[in-house]
Amino acid sequence: MKKIAAILVVVVMAASMVISCTGGTGGLIGMAMPETHVMRWVKDGNSLVEEAKKLGYRAEVQFGDADQAIQNTQIQSFLTLGAKALIVGCINDGVASVIEEAGRGGVIVIAYDRLIQNSGDYDYYITFNNFKVGQLQGQSIVDGLDLNSATAAAPKYITLFAGSPTDGNAFFFFDGAMDVLNPFIDSGALRVVGPYPRTSADRANFQRIATENWQAPIAKTRMENLLNADARAVTLDAVLAPNDTLARAIIDALKADAKYRNNLPVVTGQDAEFASALSIKNGEQYSTVFKDTAKLAEAAVLLADQAIRGQPINIPGAVLAADIGLASIGDTGRKVVHAYLLDPILVTRDNLNVPIDAEFYQHHEAVQLR
Ligand code: BGC
Repeated sequence: MKKIAAILVVVVMAASMVISCTGGTGGLIGMAMPETHVMRWVKDGNSLVEEAKKLGYRAEVQFGDADQAIQNTQIQSFLTLGAKALIVGCINDGVASVIEEAGRGGVIVIAYDRLIQNSGDYDYYITFNNFKVGQLQGQSIVDGLDLNSATAAAPKYITLFAGSPTDGNAFFFFDGAMDVLNPFIDSGALRVVGPYPRTSADRANFQRIATENWQAPIAKTRMENLLNADARAVTLDAVLAPNDTLARAIIDALKADAKYRNNLPVVTGQDAEFASALSIKNGEQYSTVFKDTAKLAEAAVLLADQAIRGQPINIPGAVLAADIGLASIGDTGRKVVHAYLLDPILVTRDNLNVPIDAEFYQHHEAVQLR
């Protein structure tokens, strides 16, 4: 018995030494990701933990299942565990109450990918240039339909989808896309089938094209309904889809319609998810936007580390939104936080090698994409 106890003591001591050796500042960083029904977040979670460990932190990731109450409980438990920093991809602004708690305790909070709205209790936001994500989606429709050659006499037809109205990013994506598409709609070369908000400021129509919590079944049903109603009399040339998860659901609905089975419209996307990359390779989905989330995770952890240490913030590869006149990206409605932006890249069949070469996919996936 004594022997076992002695062994246990040694094991415990060894374990605590490991923690203190690799512990860096000795702190815990809590990673709260919003959901797993959109694959990217699983990857984000893994990359964040890996990066935090590289810098000598303890790290734990939790996924909120698109439910802010669940995520709040997870964040609260990170606070109870004494986290030094939180990296939070929130679900909606219901997160503000736990962020306030974190702020009161002097915990560093980094809004990750999604702005934490209606909060004045944190200082940093790291994301991609989300307006540009939308512009790239719009540009891929211009290219894919050769809109520059289209005319009001022989127009192209499009229908519009947006992301979750609870996610500030969805507004940037849509406004970026419409920034590129509106001139073609104004000239008559492009006609919108279904609701047409010119920008997200037209809240009533934006709500009609939005997809609550980015749920694929909602987008699929909406596409089916469109095909049986507004889109019945025309042939759609394009669908603005805000991300890959929804793009594939929309494509599923289109493929069930004989009119489109062998003649899919140009469908956009975002996230360069493996399933969509494969769909692009197979000539179904037209484009995606590659956001290298491994780089985002690396940058977020570096930001957390510098903030924990009270060092000046310097994030290689990111620009400060304020430096390019986009400070409003960090406007929570209560305060303007420092927003750091990474650059998104448009991907079509012609440059599928870009995310592959960036080692964004696992080896067996990359093999299938080559
Ligand atoms: C992210 C996208 C993602 C979407 C749904 C957005 O906030 O920026 O990459 O596809 O949420 O999870």
